[in-house]
Amino acid sequence: MLTTLTLLTLAAQAAPTPQFHKDIVPILQARCQSCHRPGEAAPFSMLTYKDTRPWAKAMKAAVAARKMPPWFADSATGHFRNNPTLPQKEIDTLSQWADNGAPEGNPADAPKPLAFTNGWNIGQPDAVFEMPTAFEVPAKGSVDYQWIVIPTGFKEDKWLEAVEVRPGDRSVVHHVIAFYRRPGSKWLADAPPGVPVPKASNSSETGMSDGSIGGYVPGLPPRALGKGRALLLPANSDLVLQLHYTASGKAAKDQTKVGIIFAKQAPKERHIGIAVGNGKFVIPPGDPNYRVDGEITLGADLRVLDFTPHMHLRGKSYEYTAIFPDGREEKLLSVPKYDFNWQLTYELAEERVLPKGTRIHATAYFDNSPNNPFNPDPKAEVRFGDQTWDEMMVGFFSVAVPPDFNLRNLIQQAPPKPPATGAGGR
Ligand code: HEC
Repeated sequence: MLTTLTLLTLAAQAAPTPQFHKDIVPILQARCQSCHRPGEAAPFSMLTYKDTRPWAKAMKAAVAARKMPPWFADSATGHFRNNPTLPQKEIDTLSQWADNGAPEGNPADAPKPLAFTNGWNIGQPDAVFEMPTAFEVPAKGSVDYQWIVIPTGFKEDKWLEAVEVRPGDRSVVHHVIAFYRRPGSKWLADAPPGVPVPKASNSSETGMSDGSIGGYVPGLPPRALGKGRALLLPANSDLVLQLHYTASGKAAKDQTKVGIIFAKQAPKERHIGIAVGNGKFVIPPGDPNYRVDGEITLGADLRVLDFTPHMHLRGKSYEYTAIFPDGREEKLLSVPKYDFNWQLTYELAEERVLPKGTRIHATAYFDNSPNNPFNPDPKAEVRFGDQTWDEMMVGFFSVAVPPDFNLRNLIQQAPPKPPATGAGGR
């Protein structure tokens, strides 16, 4: 026994201290540099030893606490192919490196630097739509959401295989969603094309978008569907960009653009976004744990691809559960600690066909108490709305259907609910 222990201790002592170029760079390339490099979302670069070295201790702390890379799904529920969580071995390597003075080692041991595209990540687009003029973001203060209508001029339906939304200046772009609206839509009907309009609403009172083709959120790769799948952009639609800017301390200009690649062949499947949510809740002032539920019933056998829960600053947790026609229940995604700053999409490692009649049930909790550091106003009664001081309870998810699928069959009409027990209670 003693000998074994001694040997183990010796072995531990003999393990060489991890070196930056040899041991750390491969981890950073695989897990961190997508965001931690110049021009991207993260506050410092991890491309060189000089830039990385001062952050060694903070890096150790961030990975040990699993704050970085950002990921919020409970690991006990489902498997997701874009889960970036570090294996324990890599956390240990980063920790030992930080604890031992973060040595550089020999630059010759480093793997080849990753080649980052400064152009389009999806490849050369077939069509590009750009904001006609730059939006000026002030150095300080909050900026209302901006909405800008950009006509496509496409006279016929288009199948889109890849879409990339590229901000002009990532230091001030919090997120962008590229919606579309069909001809004749009342949504933003008064907005002159090409001119940003502040504060416009995406709520049912003023009309609604007809869907989105993509978006930009820090660190998320652009949408490239693959597998013979494509999004349908109906003829004569306009794009409507929703732009959320955040002041960075320096005045800046942003001119965001959207690049599109058309499917070269007729797609095998159509990629469609669905949402399960609730727009009728009222969160009481000060409530630390207010529950809101939403549910839809699938109108056909549907192949489910991914989930994107969306709430605002009072959002606490979000769960999707499938309730099968035979009554069996299965949790599909659980995000126990929702964070508004990270609008992540969770892509199923194995796509699932859920049978017709399956109910997709979503449950969210909100913290409207003063203990929520992000709460803009704990005294407010909070309803659905698109400003960050309003709330949302939307569980987006994507499905793949045959190209000629009749969208009316996507969701079953909800059965009439008994009074006073609807969603929004506890
Ligand atoms: C998806 C993008 C993304 C990835 C991947 C990512 N980071 Fe970050 N990181 C950020 C952003 C944005 C911030 C600043 C905001 C914040 O702190 O939440 C940040 C902040 C940090 C900080 C600052 C201190 C802190 O904890 O707030 C550290 C340290 C850090 N990241 C380490 C890492 C390491 C190590 C990796 C890889 C193992 C990594 N990050 C991967 C985007 C990313």
